[in-house]
Amino acid sequence: MNVGVIGSGQVGQVLADGFLKHGHDVRRGSRDPSKLSAWKLAAGHRASTGTFAETAAFGALVVLAVKGGAAMEVVEACGQGLDGKVVIDPTNPIEEAAPVNGVLSFFTGPNDSLLERLQRRAPAARFVKAFSCVGSGLMVNPKLAGGPPTMFVCGNDPEAKRVVSGVLEQFGWSGEDCGTAEAARAIEPLCMLWCIPGFRHGDWAHAFKVLRP
Ligand SMILES: NC(=O)c1ccc[n+]([C@@H]2O[C@H](COP(=O)([O-])OP(=O)(O)OC[C@H]3O[C@@H](n4cnc5c(N)ncnc54)[C@H](OP(=O)(O)O)[C@@H]3O)[C@@H](O)[C@H]2O)c1
Repeated sequence: MNVGVIGSGQVGQVLADGFLKHGHDVRRGSRDPSKLSAWKLAAGHRASTGTFAETAAFGALVVLAVKGGAAMEVVEACGQGLDGKVVIDPTNPIEEAAPVNGVLSFFTGPNDSLLERLQRRAPAARFVKAFSCVGSGLMVNPKLAGGPPTMFVCGNDPEAKRVVSGVLEQFGWSGEDCGTAEAARAIEPLCMLWCIPGFRHGDWAHAFKVLRP
């Protein structure tokens, strides 16, 4: 599968490398693709780079690994490149402010989410929230006790969620489908919870798991 990974940060790097490792062709996008040339060289012949729009156009599956506060304008910059595409959305709506006693602030409220805003901005794209509630170092085939951890996902398009569920399985996760886009109101704040042990004790090596009888 051709995968477009929009994002020159840590999440873009880890997920792009994960897709390459699992046999996909990957284009990685930035406003300035030249800053990804070292990655492209190291990543090999199935890797390429491009602008946001070129990366969106390349992918059958697209990952939107950009700063939460810039995500709306990045979607805008993709033009029609996201139309019809499955778009994995790991973004979190984190405010430009220091955490308060280990707790991050969001620019969205409790009855709102970034995923819903993005879906409204690009109604023909098929957004699926995923990878938002774990650190980048654990996103691909994490080695944790107790079997595959849980990745909470949501989105309006059932087929898109099936595609993402396959990706999660390849990447060593158990997908937990929480329903439609509104469920992102509950999933995105898990980022705050996930970060608390990190900010308080330097403990960033953990993930969520749903347990059932
Ligand atoms: N880091 C983690 O462990 C982690 C874990 C879970 C979820 N997340 C979420 O995943 C997303 C990506 O995180 P990250 O740590 O990899 O990197 P990041 O620093 O949050 O985002 C980097 C990307 O955002 C783009 N960007 C920043 N400001 C922009 C602007 N004004 N206009 C257009 N694009 C802009 C950059 O574009 P250029 O390439 O053009 O510079 C770059 O591609 C975030 O929403 C974050 O909350 C992060």
